[in-house]
Amino acid sequence: MVQIAQAVLSLLSFTAQWSQRPLQATDTTSVEVASPEARPNITKSIAIVGAGSGGLAILKGLLDLPQDVRSTWEIVLYEQRRDVGGVWYADPQPPQPPTLPETPLYPLLHTNTPHPTMTYPGFTFPPGTPLFPSHEYVWQYHVDYAEHFNLTRHINVNHTVLAAGWKGSSARGKWIVDVTRTDRPEEVQQRSFDHLIVANGHNHYPRIPHWAGEDDWLGNTPLGKPKREILHSIFYREPEGYINRTVVIVGGGASGRDAALQVGAVTKTYQSLREGSVPPDGAQVIVKPPISHFTIDAVVFEDGSSLSDVDSVILATGYEFLVPFLSRIPKDSGITTPALVTSPATTANSTSAAALTTNLRYIFPLYEHIFSLSPAFPPTALAFVGLPVLIANCPSDRAQALFISHAIADPSVLPPRGEMLDGLVAREANVRARGYDPYYVGHKMVGGDDEAQAYQNALVRFLKRAGRLPDDGREYVEPWRVMARKESRLLARAWSRVEEHGDQARWLDGITTEEQWASVMWRLVDWQAEWEKEHGQGPDTYA
Ligand SMILES: Cc1cc2nc3c(=O)[nH]c(=O)nc-3n(C[C@H](O)[C@H](O)[C@H](O)COP(=O)(O)OP(=O)(O)OC[C@H]3O[C@@H](n4cnc5c(N)ncnc54)[C@H](O)[C@@H]3O)c2cc1C
Ligand SMILES: *[C@@H]1O[C@H](CO)[C@@H](O)[C@H](O)[C@H]1NC(C)=O
Ligand SMILES: *[C@@H]1O[C@H](CO)[C@@H](O)[C@H](O)[C@H]1NC(C)=O
Ligand SMILES: *[C@@H]1O[C@H](CO)[C@@H](O)[C@H](O)[C@H]1NC(C)=O
Ligand SMILES: *[C@@H]1O[C@H](CO)[C@@H](O)[C@H](O)[C@H]1NC(C)=O
Ligand SMILES: *[C@@H]1O[C@H](CO)[C@@H](O)[C@H](O)[C@H]1NC(C)=O
Repeated sequence: MVQIAQAVLSLLSFTAQWSQRPLQATDTTSVEVASPEARPNITKSIAIVGAGSGGLAILKGLLDLPQDVRSTWEIVLYEQRRDVGGVWYADPQPPQPPTLPETPLYPLLHTNTPHPTMTYPGFTFPPGTPLFPSHEYVWQYHVDYAEHFNLTRHINVNHTVLAAGWKGSSARGKWIVDVTRTDRPEEVQQRSFDHLIVANGHNHYPRIPHWAGEDDWLGNTPLGKPKREILHSIFYREPEGYINRTVVIVGGGASGRDAALQVGAVTKTYQSLREGSVPPDGAQVIVKPPISHFTIDAVVFEDGSSLSDVDSVILATGYEFLVPFLSRIPKDSGITTPALVTSPATTANSTSAAALTTNLRYIFPLYEHIFSLSPAFPPTALAFVGLPVLIANCPSDRAQALFISHAIADPSVLPPRGEMLDGLVAREANVRARGYDPYYVGHKMVGGDDEAQAYQNALVRFLKRAGRLPDDGREYVEPWRVMARKESRLLARAWSRVEEHGDQARWLDGITTEEQWASVMWRLVDWQAEWEKEHGQGPDTYA
């Protein structure tokens, strides 16, 4: 009960903090129930939530199962936006805080990894795509993927999943799911499904730190100065908006690095970083330690220094792991417990967790970051795609999709629940042994690329050993992907030299297949490494 009360409380504070687009059903809702009798020949029904990289991967994974396995399955994907692509699909309008934008995407966004490493295996970016493309290419890639593999007819865009609850026991039951169309939010359709697959992304709910004195500081804009603001990076769009402002960027992750490069180029900018973190190469920023507190006229840092000329604080402080629809109970469903409990200060651990829980950093207990081990429902009833962080998403999503599809087709491929729980406890113990708190680092691949690749290889190897996939004796993650992830900084420097020389065509002409993209990257690595050796340059001289 305590956990439920906490969940309700934190949901309340969540919705109070953010006025979201109308995800909540109104009281005048008409509930339309699609009865199972209307679908007599369906032996299994599966709902997928989200049509970003993760949702598309699992949709294709399920459709790739042999026809005789899945011909009587109903597979429905719900996407609340107007098109596929998730974070890569640009918002039609500039954000209006505090209403959350549909995506954190900003106009200057380019990938920070070479695109061949970001692909679903076997499906390349089109010929001529710059190695570090702007976001439009990545969005188009997702659109092309959905069209090429005929995924579109399973995708219901403009459909928001409002609530999903489990009606049943740990052995059997159904998901009751409330869905609404974005153009008719007053009509809620209630559907039931055997399996629910969550691919809702984790760059949507900002993590907002708070400091003593921030309200006093915000309320005390000096005369003739721009209005003081503290905004999360999810609202960040154009650096030009910061001209004539003095800015503090908080955080050194991907968003903080991009903001430092972009905002630092147009105005006086500080970057507040934890010890050991450095600004990106070429960023025109002054490094500051973490913020300690605010006074009525200054930002004070942990080393005691303070700045009184600051106008804007950009919080590049990351995102929370939330699945609001899983924490809401469908209308008139008779369900009494939410599928997912939100409990920020949880003291439970995987072995003692009585319910599926998010502490906003970590969703647990999950097997392999995928299947729920909650005692409330069978493990294959609920799966997540795309939770791992610090991993190349599309290949990882594809590996997870293979794992999920085969486990849904035949749950006996999975170990017994107790064994999976032991596996999870061992994973968490391993994270602890390396000096991290698994309840803090959550789904981060703290061991870097090696761990991220081992994770994907293990999922696929498992299916090969179980005889579900042919074993060609190779690991899932190809050697060229391993190399290109490892050398992605070097490749970025190589590619900026290519662009400086206007030499793109020479490198990219005739490059279409995955093997050819791989060979371009091998050649670029050699070319750049040699040049850096000759010129005594390298990562260190850029720092
Ligand atoms: C700014 C930014 C830059 C990035 N750059 C890179 C990069 O350079 N390289 C890289 O490899 N990765 C990068 N990433 C990581 C990126 O998140 C992944 O590449 C990947 O696209 C995430 O896909 P996803 O499907 O997991 O989530 P998302 O793309 O977030 O998709 C989730 C989808 O679910 C839908 N949805 C959510 N809730 C509901 C609901 N209740 N009902 C219906 N639909 C719902 C959403 O509308 C959304 O379309 C970046 C991320 C961000 C935010
Ligand atoms: C269900 O299957 C039966 C027999 O295979 C068939 O005659 C009928 O048309 C099918 N119904 C639907 C709704 O597909
Ligand atoms: C989705 O909604 C938008 C308007 O919000 C509309 O333009 C578009 O046609 C809709 N798409 C589908 C497939 O219904
Ligand atoms: C997509 O569907 C079309 C028409 O039904 C078919 O010809 C084509 O082979 C399909 N493509 C794939 C990749 O399955
Ligand atoms: C910045 O300040 C200068 C000098 O006051 C002014 O001329 C300019 O228009 C300002 N630019 C923006 C983008 O606000
Ligand atoms: C997890 O919870 C179980 C049961 O309460 C307890 O025995 C165990 O010590 C806990 N483990 C950790 C690492 O906290």
